Amino acid sequence: MSEEGYRQRENGIFTRAIHGGFEPQDEFTWPIMPSIVVSAVFEQETPGRDREFRYSRIRNPTRTVLEKSLAEIENAKYALCFSSGLGAATTIISVLSSGDHIIAGEELYGGTYRLFKEIFPRMGMQTTFVDTRDPKNIENAMTEKTKLVWIETPTNPILRITDIKSVSEVVHKQEGVLLVVDNTFQTPYFQRPLELGADISMYSLTKYMNGHNDCIMGSISTNQESIYEKLHFLQHALGIIPSPHDCHQLYRSLKTLPLRMEQHMKNGLALAKYLEKQPQVEKVIYAGLTSHPQHDLVKKQCYGTSGMLSFYIKGDFNETKKFIKALKIIKYTGSLGGAGTTVVVPSYMSHVMLSNEEKIKLGITDNLIRVSVGLESIDDIIADFDQAFKYLLNSK
Ligand SMILES: Cc1ncc(COP(=O)(O)O)c(C=O)c1O
Repeated sequence: MSEEGYRQRENGIFTRAIHGGFEPQDEFTWPIMPSIVVSAVFEQETPGRDREFRYSRIRNPTRTVLEKSLAEIENAKYALCFSSGLGAATTIISVLSSGDHIIAGEELYGGTYRLFKEIFPRMGMQTTFVDTRDPKNIENAMTEKTKLVWIETPTNPILRITDIKSVSEVVHKQEGVLLVVDNTFQTPYFQRPLELGADISMYSLTKYMNGHNDCIMGSISTNQESIYEKLHFLQHALGIIPSPHDCHQLYRSLKTLPLRMEQHMKNGLALAKYLEKQPQVEKVIYAGLTSHPQHDLVKKQCYGTSGMLSFYIKGDFNETKKFIKALKIIKYTGSLGGAGTTVVVPSYMSHVMLSNEEKIKLGITDNLIRVSVGLESIDDIIADFDQAFKYLLNSK
């Protein structure tokens, strides 16, 4: 157990993040970083006899380095990269067929929800949305047609937690059902779904894994060869692949993932504690706070928690807007997991596609602000929030 009561973080992940995935092969110059291989095609030995690389949609050396590195960080056997997080989701769902049934968490990133709600039904796949905090809800929703269960934990933006191990036990009572966990918010540094029984962990690499807001990518990790083979086939059959340049950028970013996540967690907790004391704040939701209703579960299944928090400001959308406009160094933007602190009003951005009833049911109101706490000096982050709260008070 770590000092804060989470699962004990291992030091080895720092080393794997830096050295994983790459063995220098050029015995002339011995580079210690992989080259960006831009070649779309590779010369073959003879007709009918391929070398390791043939065509970059199928396999590309720079992508392979990144995939190996991602697998090593997570202690997984295999990883695959895609051109976005939603591209990874689309590829996973493409293992299913018309008539198959999906169960998904009722609170998901808005874009993932839209895929399940609007796009996959056109291909004959229906999804039942349930509150996955209680594994019984999943059990009750299972039918003989169920082929896949999709969860996010913590959820975006209300940060509800699902017990991955308990859900895995329920899901795997029925043969052939896949459990997929979107692990974007936690990264493999703080949560490893495969260790807890999930079949696939999935990422929007765009977020913490890249960490610098300058690249869109997604990935999956798995320990099962048959799943890897199916998804590798679909990766090139569907063609949802990232560029070698983006793969290199991602590979470089992963080297500092553990360091960055430590600082996101430290700053996240400090800001959450500060916000809890503010009279202009109605409620703070942060998985690392003891006031989070599932904090004990977070400690049991996670190695720590990232810098994602949400809070309800006292007031309506006008107050929310004024507060956000008053922020100086903190940016208002839809993404998360970058070096700089960002805020978003989910009801107007990441979750704008939900109906009013859906938003109200989940607690995604106009005074809810989601914060991705960055890596700046915590004093500067708090000072920016402080002056914005003061501005709000004085503008009444
Ligand atoms: C939790 C989560 N999953 C998936 C995605 C989709 O990823 P991408 O934007 O890389 O397609 C997002 C994007 O915000 C997200 O927050």
